[in-house]
Order: sequence, then C-alpha cells, then structure tokens
Amino acid sequence: MLAVAFFLFSACVQANSTFDFRGLDSLVQRRLPQHAEDFTFTALPGTGDRYIINDTGDRKGAVTVSCTSISACARGLYTYLTKFGGVDIWWTGSRLHELPSHLPHVGEPITGEAVVPFRYHFNTVTFGYTTAFWALDKWSLLLDWLALRGVNLPLAWVGYEHILSEVFRDAGLSDSEIAAFLSGPAFLPWNRFGNIQGSWGGNLPTQWVNDQFALGKQIIQRMVELGMIPILPSFTGFVPRALATHYPNASIVTGGQWSGFEPSLTNVSFLEPFDPLFAQLQKSFILKQKAAYGNLSHIYTLDQYNENDPFSGDISYLRNVSSNTFSSLREADPDAVWLMQGWLFFVSSAFWTNDRIDAYLGGVEGNDTMIILDLYSEAAPQWNRTNNYSGKQWIWCELHDFGGTMGMEGNLEGLTKDPIAALQSPGSSMKGIGLTMEGQEGNEIVYDIVLDQAWSPKPLVINDYVTRWVTRRYTVHPLPSAAQKAWYILSTTVYNNTDPTSQLTTKSILELTPALTGLINRTVLLPTVVRYSTNITILPALKLLLQASDAAPSLRNIPEFRYDVVGLCRQFLANRFNDLYQDLITVYNSSATSREAVTSAGEQLLHLLGDLDRLLYTNENFLLSTWIADARQWAGAGPETNASYAAYLEYNARNQITLWGPNGEIDDYASKQWAGLVGEYYSQRWTLFVDYLTSLKQNGQEYNATDISSRLLSIGRTWQTQRWGNITGETLGTKGGTFEVVDEVLQNWAQQPRT
Ligand SMILES: *[C@@H]1O[C@H](CO)[C@@H](O)[C@H](O)[C@H]1NC(C)=O
Ligand SMILES: *[C@@H]1O[C@H](CO)[C@@H](O)[C@H](O)[C@H]1NC(C)=O
Ligand SMILES: *[C@@H]1O[C@H](CO)[C@@H](O)[C@H](O)[C@H]1NC(C)=O
Ligand SMILES: *[C@@H]1O[C@H](CO)[C@@H](O)[C@H](O)[C@H]1NC(C)=O
Ligand SMILES: *[C@@H]1O[C@H](CO)[C@@H](O)[C@H](O)[C@H]1NC(C)=O
Ligand SMILES: *[C@@H]1O[C@H](CO)[C@@H](O)[C@H](O)[C@H]1NC(C)=O
Ligand SMILES: *[C@@H]1O[C@H](CO)[C@@H](O)[C@H](O)[C@H]1NC(C)=O
Ligand SMILES: *[C@@H]1O[C@H](CO)[C@@H](O)[C@H](O)[C@H]1NC(C)=O
Ligand SMILES: *[C@@H]1O[C@H](CO)[C@@H](O)[C@H](O)[C@H]1NC(C)=O
Ligand SMILES: *[C@@H]1O[C@H](CO)[C@@H](O)[C@H](O)[C@H]1NC(C)=O
Ligand SMILES: *[C@@H]1O[C@H](CO)[C@@H](O)[C@H](O)[C@H]1NC(C)=O
Ligand SMILES: *[C@@H]1O[C@H](CO)[C@@H](O)[C@H](O)[C@H]1NC(C)=O
Repeated sequence: MLAVAFFLFSACVQANSTFDFRGLDSLVQRRLPQHAEDFTFTALPGTGDRYIINDTGDRKGAVTVSCTSISACARGLYTYLTKFGGVDIWWTGSRLHELPSHLPHVGEPITGEAVVPFRYHFNTVTFGYTTAFWALDKWSLLLDWLALRGVNLPLAWVGYEHILSEVFRDAGLSDSEIAAFLSGPAFLPWNRFGNIQGSWGGNLPTQWVNDQFALGKQIIQRMVELGMIPILPSFTGFVPRALATHYPNASIVTGGQWSGFEPSLTNVSFLEPFDPLFAQLQKSFILKQKAAYGNLSHIYTLDQYNENDPFSGDISYLRNVSSNTFSSLREADPDAVWLMQGWLFFVSSAFWTNDRIDAYLGGVEGNDTMIILDLYSEAAPQWNRTNNYSGKQWIWCELHDFGGTMGMEGNLEGLTKDPIAALQSPGSSMKGIGLTMEGQEGNEIVYDIVLDQAWSPKPLVINDYVTRWVTRRYTVHPLPSAAQKAWYILSTTVYNNTDPTSQLTTKSILELTPALTGLINRTVLLPTVVRYSTNITILPALKLLLQASDAAPSLRNIPEFRYDVVGLCRQFLANRFNDLYQDLITVYNSSATSREAVTSAGEQLLHLLGDLDRLLYTNENFLLSTWIADARQWAGAGPETNASYAAYLEYNARNQITLWGPNGEIDDYASKQWAGLVGEYYSQRWTLFVDYLTSLKQNGQEYNATDISSRLLSIGRTWQTQRWGNITGETLGTKGGTFEVVDEVLQNWAQQPRT
C-alpha cells in the first residue's frame, strides 16, 4: 500500500523541489559527521507534516526520508535515529554521533504524521531564566534538539531591543530616554511584557543590544533552515515614559505595579492601540524587522496584559484595544497572525471574566488570525472555560515549572492523555502542542513526551515509552535491568503526580530564606510540598542506578547517566533537608532544650548543604560557574575582558537567581541547586539562621522575624556584588568524583551504605 502511494506521489516530487534541505544536511554534518552522506531527504506532495523513512540498501545515501515539510523530515530523521539507531540528542549533549557505523536497517518503510500543525516551544521568560546569556553553541544544541523532535514554531526574542530602540529613536527619543526604559540582560522578558522598566545595577549597554541582534539573526536563520517558523516580536505598546513628552497628545496610560517593584521600575507606560501613533510605531517596527531578517514569518508574539491588568475592564474598551492592535499588525503585514500567551486568563481570572475574554479576542475578526498559548494546560486549562477561545486557534502547552525550579515532578499520563482528549473534544480549535516551561532545568522526560505526543494520535503507552527512553538514554548494551527498574519506580510515582491542585516542580526549602514558619508544605506559587515518599521512590531509584553501574561500569561514563545519578542524589538530599529543618525547629521550639541542642541540630543542616555542594561540583550541569561564565563571556575573554561590563553582567546573573530585583522583590523565585550557590550563598544564610536561633536560646530572647529577615537579605545584597574568583572554594569547572561523593552521601544521610 505504502509503496504504491509513494510511487503515485513520486511523479510530483519535482513540483516541491522548493524544499531546501540544506539545513537538515548541515544538521547531519554537525551531529553525525561520519554519516554525512548517508541520509537523503526528498519532498512529498501534500499538506500537513508527514514523513516516510525507507532504506535503499547498505550504501551511501542509504536512508531516505521523504516528507511534506522540512520539519517532518527532521522528525523522520529523529525517528530513524532513536528507533533504529538507538541514539538521541539531549539537553546535556548530542549522542547522535554514536549511531553505529553500519546503518541499522529499516525494513518495511515507516511513516509518521503530526497530529497538529503547530509544535511549539518557549515561554517568553525562558529567554531570561535559561537562555539569557547563551552564545550560539548552546543555541545550536537546543535548536537541533527542537528540530529533530519536530518543533516548527519557536519564539524568537533574541535581539528585540535593537529594533525596538531604532523605532524609538526614529520617533524622536534620545538614547538616554530609551536606556531608561530597557531592563538588564537577565530581566528583558519582563520588560518585553511591560511588567518592569529600566534597570538596577546600570543601564543596558549598547554593546549588549548589538551583540544580541547579531546572535538573533543567526538563531532565526538556523530556525528557518531547520524548517521552523520563528515567532517574531512586534511593537506591544509599552513605551519609555519620555514618549509622553515628545507626544503630549498621545493616549498613554500607566500600567499597574508588578511584584512589589518601586514605581520607577514598574507602572510601565502603555500607548493605547487606538492612538494613531501605535499603528505608526508598529509599522516602523515590522518593516525594520523584515529588513533585518527577511520576509520569513508572519506570526508575531504580542502580550499586553501578562500579569498586568488593562486600564479599563469595559467591554468596548477591550474590544477596541485588540481590534486596533490587530489592525496595526495587518497594516504592517497583510498576513500577520497574532500569537499571545494565555497566562493572564488564569492568573488574573477575576479580571478576565468570560465576557471580557470574548471582547478582547472578539475584537480580532476571524479564527486563523490569532494563536493563543493555553499556557498551563496540564493543570489550569482555560480553553475549556472559554469555549475553545471562541474558535481561535490555540496550543496545548505544558508549563511545568516556575523560574527553573529543579524539583523532580511530572504527570506522564496527563501529559499524554490530556492533549489528545482536548484535540478530540467536540468543536476543538486546538492546533498545536508545545512547551512553555519558564526554565529548562532537568526533568527532560516530561518535555520529551509532550513533543512526542504531537506525533501520535493515541496517548503514548507510558511503560513502553519510558523503557525505550531509558534504553537510548543509557546507551549500554545490554542495559542492566536495575536501570529500567529505577525508571519504573520514578515513572509510576514522582512522574505520576496526579494531584490536580499542584502540577509544578517543587522548590526545596534549602533555597529559600530561612524562617521559623511557612517553609514546609507550601502548595501555592512556589510549592515546597513533596508529594511522594522519598524513601520508597528517589532513594531506591538512586540505588538501582548505582547497582546498574556496578553491573555495567561503562554506564559511569555516560553523561546522561551521570546527570541522572547526580540529579537523584540531589533530590534525595534536598528532601532530607526538610526533615532536618523540622528537627531543628522542633528542638528550638521545645522549652526544655539547651543552646547546644540547637547548635547540634543546626550543624546537621549545614553538613548536608556541604555534601550537596560537593555533589553538585562533580557534574558540569550543576554549576553556578557556568551561569556566570556564560554571562561574562559577552564582555570578552582574557586580557581583552572589559572588566566593568563583565561585572555588570555578573551582577545581573547573580541578582536574577537570588534577590530578583534591587531589594529582593521576588527573592529566591529563580533559585537553583548549583554548586557554588548552595555552598556559598544558601550555606551562609542557614549558618546565620542557626547562629541566630542558638543565640536566642542562650539569651532567652524572642524570635524577631523582621530582624532576621533583614540580616538574611543583607547576605544576599553582599553576595550578588561579589565577583568571580573572589570567593573561597569556588572554581570554574567540576571537582571531585560523582560516585565517591554519592557513596558518602548515602552513608551520611541514608544511614546505610548503598548495597
Ligand atoms: C508542495 O508543498 C506545499 C506546501 O507544503 C503544498 O501546499 C503543495 O500541495 C505541494 N505541492 C504538490 C505538487 O503537492
Ligand atoms: C523503499 O526502497 C526500496 C528499495 O530502493 C524501493 O524498492 C521501495 O519502493 C521504497 N519504498 C518506498 C515507500 O519508498
Ligand atoms: C494637542 O492637542 C491640542 C488641543 O486639542 C492642540 O491644540 C495641539 O495642537 C495638539 N498638539 C499636537 C502636537 O498634536
Ligand atoms: C502603580 O500601579 C499601582 C496599581 O498597581 C497604583 O496603585 C500606583 O498608583 C501606580 N503608581 C504610579 C506612580 O503610577
Ligand atoms: C512575504 O511573504 C508572503 C508569503 O509568505 C507573500 O505573500 C508576500 O508577498 C511577501 N512580501 C514581500 C514584500 O515579499
Ligand atoms: C477545565 O478543565 C480543568 C482540568 O480538567 C478543570 O479543573 C476545570 O474545572 C475545567 N473548567 C471548566 C469550566 O470546565
Ligand atoms: C470561529 O469559530 C467559531 C467557533 O467554532 C465559529 O462559530 C465562527 O463562525 C468561526 N468564525 C469564522 C470567521 O470562521
Ligand atoms: C498513576 O496514579 C494513578 C492514581 O493516582 C493510578 O491510577 C495510575 O495507575 C498511576 N499510573 C502509573 C503509570 O503508575
Ligand atoms: C506536611 O505534609 C505531610 C504530608 O501531608 C505531613 O505529614 C506533615 O505533617 C506536614 N508538615 C507540616 C509542617 O505541615
Ligand atoms: C526515611 O528513611 C530515614 C533513614 O532511614 C528515616 O530516618 C526516616 O524516618 C524515613 N522517613 C519516612 C517518612 O519513613
Ligand atoms: C525586631 O527587630 C526590628 C529590626 O531589628 C526592630 O526594629 C524591632 O524593634 C524588633 N522587635 C521586637 C519586638 O523586638
Ligand atoms: C576581590 O577582593 C578584594 C579583597 O577583598 C577586593 O579588593 C577586590 O575588589 C575584589 N575584586 C572583585 C572583582 O570583586
């Protein structure tokens, strides 16, 4: 049947010779250089995203992938590499070059087809929490990861400020007026959202704006080569305050205060879309962008009310705003499609009643004119209360974490069944499946499975999926069964979180500002509740992985295996910290206990943090130094380094993951369990806290929350101004052996050796 179909179609292939497969050829060259000649891509007629993989015998060009789109060919290649080749590409690196030199045979041709036209990736804030400081090499890995999984619709924010600044300059604003608006390199997403304006720690340098523009061009070009449609920025309406002085008659309103920032840094000016100046600036923006990148995408990201309620809740006002916003896009680009994050409808659901949503979306005529990202579909879908966004196109998205919080968590069943159920529900206008994680930090399986689900009309079968995933993640043959058992435990417990009220990664309390109360069992915003029993999930899974590596020592050289061992051991320690913390509080609260008892309970916590830091230092993926080095790289290397620029970048990097704001406005929101951060920063805070409790006990004084919090905050203020190389014990790169440290951790904290 297939062969016949292919024969019939093959006559038309010439008609679609417009597909340019050079991007995929380059990908093969980049990731599988020894197989550079082995893959042939050809076009198939028809719409949708469909591929056929066929092999033509054991010779050069042996595997043919035919497809109806470049993205489908990328996915077809991925299917071959994973299913037949047993190799994959991970966030921790590409292992595709381990494809056997003798190409595995396909046998009967294999076909695949996307169940949705859009496979989406990124949250606007991922450009802050994860990729803020990335150079092209890291982008290149992620873009290949995305392309191979079949993603065809990624956000493309990098370089935005260059074009935006030119628009403002043309409108008559001075460089200093523009600089007063833009936020620092680690905080641009929230400036783009109109949540914050301006900087702390110094203005955004022109060099940053220019370097990002150059990088953005490379990213966008790569996206297109790999068969993706980059979603480009547009003019949102958020403007420098000074615009009002240049245009005294312009309709400019002041937005709300965001997350407790002082008014000079928030309350952002918003140019009303019905003011003719809005359309003028939109046109200027889109034309400049097209001149810079080419005419390569008509999908624009545009968010006006993300965590920022409209000036008025009046129905006609909302309709007027969206209708004028859209017409400004269409005047600048007749094919424009408006994409927006649907987060506001959830987080600000009291404001966004169904009437108001209807009015805002209804201001844009037609259904193909918009794409709504249903941002948190796994836990708080909005498509079902909005009647499929009144028929507008929308994408089922997994949010999963806030600020790159590292707790292990997932709901594999929900992630597979729910999108398919939504797609099949009556009147569905769902057009895509994708990922909107705030930060990319571990838990890779929950992202993989969602993107894979986009190519399967039925919910994936979890056990089979996990087994195959583990087999190609740990490329040792035969793989000891203990490794599969470990993942069986995880996939049925930690990754089977069916609690509908909290589908988010758990923040460990060790990353939070120490306090006497309020840390344990939080279920909202930054949940700290651990929903599984560590002793029967994380701990046995870790031990099983170690058993597997005893049976097959070569596992210890596999980067993903090492990553998982460190990740599990990290989670084990993080959860154990909760117990120790509660012991400390119990001891402190008991009137019978002595100062010495408080000290000794406290020492346990500090000892554990020391062990955690040592563990994290053994793996290149858990280092503060990487985050800081990535930031500093933009200021040059070696003697060429621009020291003050490097210091500025480093401050940005450190501030985001600690105080997040000049005064701890969203303190610890983007905290991380990274070597250096745990050992230096969190340890300092907990040391102060333990000393404080000890001194209270000794002097018979009352706990004073105001006093201790301000002292803890001042540790943060100092820490973030420190510069690389000035901190004792911190080194660039890893130190210590993972398996030795893990053994010690188990001895120290599991009260048992591992065997
Ligand atoms: C070529 O591809 C386009 C877009 O993918 C499709 O619309 C068209 O039908 C294809 N051409 C033929 C001859 O099938
Ligand atoms: C697959 O390749 C074989 C050998 O070249 C060929 O006979 C067959 O027609 C191809 N089938 C498809 C579906 O392309
Ligand atoms: C602003 O509006 C006032 C009153 O309507 C008018 O006199 C003035 O010319 C306008 N200024 C500009 C720059 O349009
Ligand atoms: C900032 O916004 C808040 C509402 O969120 C408002 O109460 C306050 O007056 C605004 N401040 C300024 C300076 O506009
Ligand atoms: C841009 O591309 C679209 C098709 O994607 C086409 O309709 C339009 O004419 C192009 N515009 C220019 C100026 O080339
Ligand atoms: C939408 O689905 C979610 C998750 O299943 C559910 O909690 C919520 O009540 C539903 N809302 C409506 C209006 O049906
Ligand atoms: C948009 O979708 C809704 C709901 O399916 C439908 O009632 C409406 O007619 C559609 N509008 C257009 C312009 O197709
Ligand atoms: C996940 O948990 C639910 C109960 O919450 C259970 O019914 C289901 O079988 C579990 N799935 C797996 C794969 O363990
Ligand atoms: C946290 O929740 C667990 C599980 O529900 C419970 O056993 C424990 O007592 C709670 N701890 C606190 C401090 O609330
Ligand atoms: C988990 O194991 C540790 C060490 O064996 C033990 O101290 C602790 O009580 C156990 N926790 C639970 C909840 O069983
Ligand atoms: C708590 O500490 C703050 C700041 O150090 C101080 O102003 C306040 O008086 C203290 N409160 C009590 C009850 O001692
Ligand atoms: C490093 O520490 C020394 C001594 O404390 C200080 O003088 C110097 O300014 C620091 N350097 C940086 C880059 O912070």
